[in-house]
Amino acid sequence: MRAIVYEQYGPPEVLELREIPKPTPDDNEVLIRIRANTVTSGDWRVRSLEVPRGFGMMSRLFFGIVKPRQPVLGTELAGEVEQVGKLVNRFKTGDQVFAFCGAKMGCYAEYVCMPEDGMIQPKPVNLTFGEAAALSFGGTTMLNFYRRGKLQGGEKVLINGASGGVGTAAVQLAREFGAEVTGVCSSANVELVRSLGAHYVIDYTREDFTTNGRVYDVIVDTVGTAPFSRCKDSLRGDGRLLVVLGELKDLFQVPWVAMTSKKKIIAGPASERTEDLQLLAQLAAEGKFKPVVDRTYPFEQMVEAHRYVDTGRKRGNVIITLEHDA
Ligand SMILES: NC(=O)c1ccc[n+]([C@@H]2O[C@H](COP(=O)([O-])OP(=O)(O)OC[C@H]3O[C@@H](n4cnc5c(N)ncnc54)[C@H](OP(=O)(O)O)[C@@H]3O)[C@@H](O)[C@H]2O)c1
Repeated sequence: MRAIVYEQYGPPEVLELREIPKPTPDDNEVLIRIRANTVTSGDWRVRSLEVPRGFGMMSRLFFGIVKPRQPVLGTELAGEVEQVGKLVNRFKTGDQVFAFCGAKMGCYAEYVCMPEDGMIQPKPVNLTFGEAAALSFGGTTMLNFYRRGKLQGGEKVLINGASGGVGTAAVQLAREFGAEVTGVCSSANVELVRSLGAHYVIDYTREDFTTNGRVYDVIVDTVGTAPFSRCKDSLRGDGRLLVVLGELKDLFQVPWVAMTSKKKIIAGPASERTEDLQLLAQLAAEGKFKPVVDRTYPFEQMVEAHRYVDTGRKRGNVIITLEHDA
């Protein structure tokens, strides 16, 4: 089968289209013919090893010290079940599904095998394969952070970086949970963020949310420009800062802030749960959550797609589509 493979960390050009063996499902696995996947900020980081300050050595230990341990990137996908193992009863051949491979990756390929009880769900019928492929990364990240941050209906939430892959999910999900949502983005993305349901939008090129005197119950930082030292006065007395992107020193601050104030910092990697994928699929089917699609590239143009994601300016999600031989 065709796959996009990389053998060294570096720029987009380290990615190469190659033939690798097609996997065969174990008894408890399904073989998925991938129709779409995405290029996320996570793929960019694991490809380039450009990680937030303090995480360099940890990332190499996790992903491979001198070269990538997993040569096929890609965390999320949508496609069709092509074959099922003999013990599988949740899925059958032909089922349309979406799935999240997370840190295990491996989605930049024509096929992948996953255990039937893994992070796979039926594809919502109202979404394209491309949209369904983009349900998981931002969605599971924000469900995890909102759960850890105990977001309640009626609370005021500010999302710094509201136009990215994680931010566009953060806006829609906070709105769905009944929060009052403020999105922070550049002028070019104000209309997009408003269209996702944000009650207020702050253009960061004109206004600094940390000095305008407004306070929030929850601040989500997906950009790394709102550490606790900068935004603590914008948090209410028992406010929570959800550090989706931050440096290692932000993690070290967590216990100190918890001991010295009622405010809290929630940081570190998000973990995913099957129930979260189910919830995202349900919200999508009800028209309450829809991944924002920025650009779509064919599989053969993966390098170009990565070049675009490397700019750090994508709006929502970048989709990759795969054509299979008849
Ligand atoms: N902790 C975790 O488990 C976890 C999970 C997922 C992702 N992450 C991290 O979260 C970060 C965000 O991910 P993502 O997928 O959302 O990235 P992304 O889609 O690449 O973010 C791009 C967006 O960021 C916006 N942006 C850039 N500078 C900004 C600024 N100063 N203020 C406000 N917005 C700004 C850009 O809008 P403009 O062009 O308008 O500025 C663009 O729309 C990544 O660094 C990723 O590594 C962490």
